[in-house]
Amino acid sequence: MFARRIAVVGTGYVGLTTGACLASLGHRVVCADIDTAKIERLRRGEVDILEPGLVELVVEGMAAGRLEFVVGAREAISRPDELPVEVMFLCVPTPMGAGGAADLSAVEAVAAEVRSLLPSGCVVVNKSTVPVGTAAATLGLLNRRDVAVVSNPEFLREGSAVHDFLHPDRIVVGCDAQDAAERVAALYSKLGAPTVLTDAASAEMVKYAANCFLAMKLSYVNALAELCDVLGADVGAVTEGMGYDRRIGQAFLKPGPGWGGSCLPKDTNALVQVAAAAGRELPIVSASIATNERQRVLMVDKVRDAVGGSLAGLRIGLLGLTFKAGTDDLRDSPALAVAALLRVEGAELTGFDPGCPVAVPGVTDDVTVVSDALLAAKDAAALVVLTEWPQFRSLDWAGIAGEMACRVVVDTRNLLDADVLRRARISWVGVGRR
Ligand code: UGA
Repeated sequence: MFARRIAVVGTGYVGLTTGACLASLGHRVVCADIDTAKIERLRRGEVDILEPGLVELVVEGMAAGRLEFVVGAREAISRPDELPVEVMFLCVPTPMGAGGAADLSAVEAVAAEVRSLLPSGCVVVNKSTVPVGTAAATLGLLNRRDVAVVSNPEFLREGSAVHDFLHPDRIVVGCDAQDAAERVAALYSKLGAPTVLTDAASAEMVKYAANCFLAMKLSYVNALAELCDVLGADVGAVTEGMGYDRRIGQAFLKPGPGWGGSCLPKDTNALVQVAAAAGRELPIVSASIATNERQRVLMVDKVRDAVGGSLAGLRIGLLGLTFKAGTDDLRDSPALAVAALLRVEGAELTGFDPGCPVAVPGVTDDVTVVSDALLAAKDAAALVVLTEWPQFRSLDWAGIAGEMACRVVVDTRNLLDADVLRRARISWVGVGRR
């Protein structure tokens, strides 16, 4: 493998993981961000996000002289004393814009900034999730015949991003110029993963196709769980029985309060929008989105039933605020969505989350954030588990029972051991469980 000179623009989850991991594979990487304070922190080896193994790779990469941080894309590619950058990764945010379509203004801004500066022969790689056709559009924006634009979607999960980067199920690289696609694929050759080389539009489509499939899988499981509740079946046994079929697989079959985070909600909405713009409907994805919204309402129904029919004026304790365990990310968190619905019905909410120890103004305003589970349980008419932090299983349940006004736990993640709770004389309500 040749060590390449790489620029990574954007140091969020995807960009920082990409930069640090590519440096660990032996490449020479310069990461750029417009946030000066963040770059200064990274230069001191401080990583803002909770991502196992990332800070170690950042520190190691800098110590080995293979990883640097600069302010701005311009600085990353126009350094006269350095050899020219061969590959530039775009890892900037593509949030949900008006009407659900992806907002590409960050990609457009970087393209405008670097257009005249890119070295001849440089390959621009889009790692952000972008609508089909963005590689072609970026090439148009750059307006350079001597530069190629490649789509190389990432499949990292928050909380295991470094592991996912270094042990990928597959690498997908798409470009209408085959040699540029092969150069990008070669950056990962050490990883030995199956590689799909295709055109740019297909590579862009893979990312939406995969995330929407995962969202559909979860909505299907959540709908099955509802039915299990009604019919007296056990969703754990049902998904185990389904999952042994290798065409289905055991992964991503856990019911919950609905799926969230910065990716699945954004990408499902974007695909529906893209389809609509192309004059097509995608009812299967639209139904998954609707099922997901409904799931949050069903969780509130469970809590209301558990406390005797009305939430007005009751104190409810929440365990978990982040969109999933192992992260500090609150973006589009199903836990916060359920909290908002509980609040509308007049509940007073106190919440504890190991990844979010203090209140985040403007985000956690529906909840009084406390620093441990006992405080969340204090005087609560019910406790509601909303995020699957494994440490919740081994909480001091007898102590928690002593704090609660009413001993009932609604476990929207089916996380806890009902027998342990029973011994603490707490009644347990799960999702789709007998
Ligand atoms: C997702 C995809 O899994 C990644 O492959 C993709 O690269 C990433 O989006 C992205 O597009 O960047 P992530 O957003 O980190 O990753 O979160 P997931 O682990 O997929 O979880 C999404 C939601 O589904 C969470 O709210 C989680 O709690 C929920 N979930 C997941 C369940 O309710 N049950 C499950 O069995 C699994």
